[in-house]
Amino acid sequence: MTARLLDVRDLRVEFRTRDGIAEAVGGVSYAVDAGRTLAVLGESGSGKSVTAHAIMGILDSPPGRITGGQVLFQGRDLLTMGAEERRRIRGAAMAMIFQDALSALNPVLPVGAQLAEMYEVHRGMSRKDARRRAVELMDRVRIPAAAQRAGDYPHQFSGGMRQRIMIAMAMALEPDLIIADEPTTALDVTVQAQVMDLLAELRREYAMGLVLITHDLGVVADVADTIAVMYAGRIVETAPVRDLYRRPAHPYTRGLLDSVPRVDHGGGQARRDHGEHVRHEGHGGHRGGKLYAIKGAPPSPLTLPPGCPFHPRCPRAQEVCRVERPPLYEVSAADGGPAPEAAPPSGASPASGASPAAGTPPPPGATPSPGAAPAPGGRTSACHFWKDELDALDAVNV
Ligand SMILES: Nc1ncnc2c1ncn2[C@@H]1O[C@H](COP(=O)(O)OP(=O)(O)OP(=O)(O)O)[C@@H](O)[C@H]1O
Ligand code: SF4
Ligand SMILES: [Mg+2]
Repeated sequence: MTARLLDVRDLRVEFRTRDGIAEAVGGVSYAVDAGRTLAVLGESGSGKSVTAHAIMGILDSPPGRITGGQVLFQGRDLLTMGAEERRRIRGAAMAMIFQDALSALNPVLPVGAQLAEMYEVHRGMSRKDARRRAVELMDRVRIPAAAQRAGDYPHQFSGGMRQRIMIAMAMALEPDLIIADEPTTALDVTVQAQVMDLLAELRREYAMGLVLITHDLGVVADVADTIAVMYAGRIVETAPVRDLYRRPAHPYTRGLLDSVPRVDHGGGQARRDHGEHVRHEGHGGHRGGKLYAIKGAPPSPLTLPPGCPFHPRCPRAQEVCRVERPPLYEVSAADGGPAPEAAPPSGASPASGASPAAGTPPPPGATPSPGAAPAPGGRTSACHFWKDELDALDAVNV
């Protein structure tokens, strides 16, 4: 059995701003097992980075503040341990890769010296041994002529090479967990793929857990085991990567999939469905059909809509959606089919046009216990009508 490495439970973060309190993270739960990759996906502003910063203990505070939840790392809550212990864990057992390597690296220190410093400070190595290890590591992340380039400064490297050095910095102490926040976004497409491949290869070699934050569904298809989709500071769907691509159980996820030009989640033509979405089927992804765009923009965390935060943009919204916030329903069964107890209120099918009574509480047992992260590999959806969403997809696929 794989060990649970990171278990984030009901994490809440708010920012005090001049305009009021912004609820940037409103109860996020996700989990990563040792040696596995979780991709965290969502539009800009959905709270992906703030969640990661809170986990790493590098939240911009003030104005940010963690107002609730737990961050269990190897079973221990990082949020309640002493500052010194937390710093030690952050240095050695978990590391972060940022999008912008140029600002994350020290501009006035040669990269070899920056890497060597990690070994001197954390491993007590002599300067000479530390320098040797630094060059080995640069070589490992495929910096050409590593020994010569160790004396160069960050600005002397290309974007892709700098990102490799950033990866080397994160890998130096062989952490158990790496959080990579949009590690390839600033790079051109070919270099993106190379850097992603390197990261995936190192993750396998060192059997690390990886949290890969991205808004690019195309990037995660090959590298992730599970996906957590975030919207407006919350998780709206979690699923094993294949299940999510084949049968998304949340309209937002489906909208994201349908707005990607090439996605490997089926095998055939893209076609219109219900006049709202373009349906991708088959491994060819989108071929010739029109791309779908989710209408509107994500809400501000200062003014989250009542009920389901996605309802102003959702093509399937019903009356209940404007009133009741959907909990994370469990979507069980290996084929992505529904758990009997997890069904939305009966007669609530958007396909049938019937709406459940506003204020109807979710059915008993329909949600995981509050704050518990779904098991990696488990499925959840924060949509009252997740079952109808899956049924509609199945109807299209018949
Ligand atoms: N220092 C801050 N002060 C006030 N609000 C903040 C601060 N940092 C982040 N936020 C707010 O928190 C919300 C979540 O931001 P976050 O950076 O986590 O989004 P993200 O999902 O990482 O987006 P992106 O894809 O653009 O990186 C946003 O609405 C953002 O405006
Ligand atoms: S709960 Fe309603 S508004 Fe929210 S995603 Fe589901 S159908 Fe759309
Ligand atoms: Mg971000």
